[in-house]
Amino acid sequence: METGLAGQRILVTGGSGGIGAACARAFAAEGCRVVVHYHRGRDRAEAVAAELPDATVAGADLTDEAQVEALFDRAAPLDVCAAVAGVWPSEDVPVWELPLERWRATIDANLTATFLTARGFLRRLRGDGSLVLVGSTAGLFGEAGHADYAAAKSAVLHGLLLSLKNEVVRIAPRARVNAVAPGWTESPMTRGLVDEERVRAISRTMALRKVASPEDVAAQVVALASPVVSGHVTGQIVTVAGGMEGRVVHE
Ligand SMILES: NC(=O)c1ccc[n+]([C@@H]2O[C@H](COP(=O)([O-])OP(=O)(O)OC[C@H]3O[C@@H](n4cnc5c(N)ncnc54)[C@H](OP(=O)(O)O)[C@@H]3O)[C@@H](O)[C@H]2O)c1
Repeated sequence: METGLAGQRILVTGGSGGIGAACARAFAAEGCRVVVHYHRGRDRAEAVAAELPDATVAGADLTDEAQVEALFDRAAPLDVCAAVAGVWPSEDVPVWELPLERWRATIDANLTATFLTARGFLRRLRGDGSLVLVGSTAGLFGEAGHADYAAAKSAVLHGLLLSLKNEVVRIAPRARVNAVAPGWTESPMTRGLVDEERVRAISRTMALRKVASPEDVAAQVVALASPVVSGHVTGQIVTVAGGMEGRVVHE
């Protein structure tokens, strides 16, 4: 299907990560010129960009306001931004033991980084503009042991998404903002954690008894970014989690 993305300039934040790299490749396959963003993984971003025609790399800590502004100055003009970067702290910690320091760091790396990314993109918007945020099923169903991450992703998927959707049309009447909410996805974030036993446990509330591939998530990011496939779709969340209905709370 024609996506209408050919020739567009796209920034993929977290392009050095598993899902971001898949997004960069998927946009490039549509004929886009991709800016592959990284934070600490410059080598990984460069390896992804080297595979793609017309791709460049750009680094920034997205929790740092000045670095985000410099990133968008360098990357502009952009047609699309896929805000993929995020951090899931792997250690299970209940709220009553959760250090304030971790809470703040997780909110910063997921919510504040997404806010600064959206702001940087919209300040320099050209054309119609499409922004795709990446949340998580943690933001829809919560995640015991990870209340910090679930709260940040919930804010991205609800308060931020729904406000942005109505704000962007003030600067560009056809601008759209949508979100993808992946469930467990094979990536460096989950490496070593998704064995057969885990898949059996997490898929008890899912129709499809498997985890997602980064390409499953990337395909939906591209579909939402496309002005042809999703031209009248804004403020929506596409959940990529095999039909997940929630959590198993008790054994
Ligand atoms: N994998 C899953 O099961 C899953 C499930 C639901 C949602 N998600 C969400 O999907 C997105 C991508 O995750 P992934 O699985 O691809 O994880 P990943 O492979 O660990 O990639 C995370 C990416 O975020 C970047 N990043 C982290 N902190 C940053 C910061 N302060 N500033 C700028 N960039 C930063 C990393 O950059 P560097 O590596 O260059 O430092 C990396 O590119 C995240 O938002 C995550 O929360 C993932």
